[in-house]
Amino acid sequence: MRISVFGMGYVGAVSAACLARDGHDVVGVDVDPLKLELLRSGRSPIVEEGIQELTAKVVAAGKISVTDNVEDAVARSDLSFVCVGTPSSPNGSQDTAAVRRVMASIGSALARKTQFHTVVMRSTLQPGTMEEMVRPILEEHSGKVVDRDFGLCFQPEFLREGTSIKDYDQPPFTVVGTRSQQAAETVRALFGHLPCEFIVTSIGVAEMLKYSCNAFHALKVTFANEIGRLSQSVRVDAREVMDLVCRDKRLNISPAYLKPGFAFGGSCLPKDLRALTYVGKQRDVTTPMLGAILGSNRAHIDHAIDKLMAPGVRRIGMVGLSFKAGTDDLRESPLVTVAERLIGKGYELRIYDPDVNLSRLIGANRRFIEQSIPHIGNKTIVEELVSGLHAEHDVVDVVGLPRERLKCTRYSGIAW
Ligand SMILES: NC(=O)c1ccc[n+]([C@@H]2O[C@H](COP(=O)([O-])OP(=O)(O)OC[C@H]3O[C@@H](n4cnc5c(N)ncnc54)[C@H](O)[C@@H]3O)[C@@H](O)[C@H]2O)c1
Repeated sequence: MRISVFGMGYVGAVSAACLARDGHDVVGVDVDPLKLELLRSGRSPIVEEGIQELTAKVVAAGKISVTDNVEDAVARSDLSFVCVGTPSSPNGSQDTAAVRRVMASIGSALARKTQFHTVVMRSTLQPGTMEEMVRPILEEHSGKVVDRDFGLCFQPEFLREGTSIKDYDQPPFTVVGTRSQQAAETVRALFGHLPCEFIVTSIGVAEMLKYSCNAFHALKVTFANEIGRLSQSVRVDAREVMDLVCRDKRLNISPAYLKPGFAFGGSCLPKDLRALTYVGKQRDVTTPMLGAILGSNRAHIDHAIDKLMAPGVRRIGMVGLSFKAGTDDLRESPLVTVAERLIGKGYELRIYDPDVNLSRLIGANRRFIEQSIPHIGNKTIVEELVSGLHAEHDVVDVVGLPRERLKCTRYSGIAW
């Protein structure tokens, strides 16, 4: 395929060299004359394992040429990858100046091109940028319509500096956000052979995925380091602790607990988090991330309650009260907090939970509910809630779940 790559930085230079190695004809575009000069003479503008040799080879074979002429590059290619920088602005927002400039130039070049062209954004962009910024600029400057006259995709880049050629050949997956089947198939022709899943999704999901992955990686490092500092403070081998944490592939290194839903609770997680962060306080070890978890959980409960308290609503039905399905344990259940707050605000509340029978609660569980919601009474828990849902209650589902599912499953997620 004939491919133009915009931005000869870490992402662009590696992509261009690997695409050329795989037999494609690549034209590299950059505004930096020094980078273009280096590439022209067969030298890579970046330092990366294996990139100098690969660049020299593909340039010598005539598979890569370079230019600063956007119109020429678009005319000489069927697909453009955009890999320009999107650095932080001083206030933390994303600086999209380079993206806006390059999109305006590509749009103008598309205006003069008759064949179908596909534009693939590889730069990391804040969710919504493709629809709200990239698409309008391209359409305005080309006078054409996305998905009809040319293809537009967002393909998040997952390579890591230092191992980027290996990562190019073995990505965790290839994800393409687009509405254009033709554009998706064009990208599949380039990456479909890689040993990973090829996933086509919406542009918004693809944009958010890249941020979610990077935030998760940062969270993992920070978690390991906070556990490391706490372990060190109690003279425990942190590496051995984290090694064992990672060996649990069922609950720890797994999809468990990674579905957006309602807040956590129960008799263990809140209590043990409080105790762990207290260990840090006792030993002057700061653990800002661990210390912020309960606050974030409370924000999630507040969010659910705000959504429930829609104007005009007086009667509310809740499905689930215990902290998770299959148990009658009400201790620190976030749904108990929701119920308590709603009763306190005078809402008429009905709760359906097949696992909870208030008259049979004993011990710490009973004490907790008596202290948390002394006014709950047996009458609030009604088995008929679900069957009589539509007629009797104004709000049950603020979770976006179809009502049919509420009828057949116990559901404790409220805020989603
Ligand atoms: N570096 C990484 O490991 C990595 C990994 C995944 C995703 N990303 C994302 O990829 C994007 C690029 O990152 P990078 O590290 O390669 O950036 P970089 O700063 O190394 O390279 C960007 C290049 O774009 C060029 N450029 C700027 N304006 C241009 C224009 N109008 N036309 C053509 N070229 C132009 C610059 O001269 C520069 O050479 C960013 O959005 C980044 O967040 C980076």
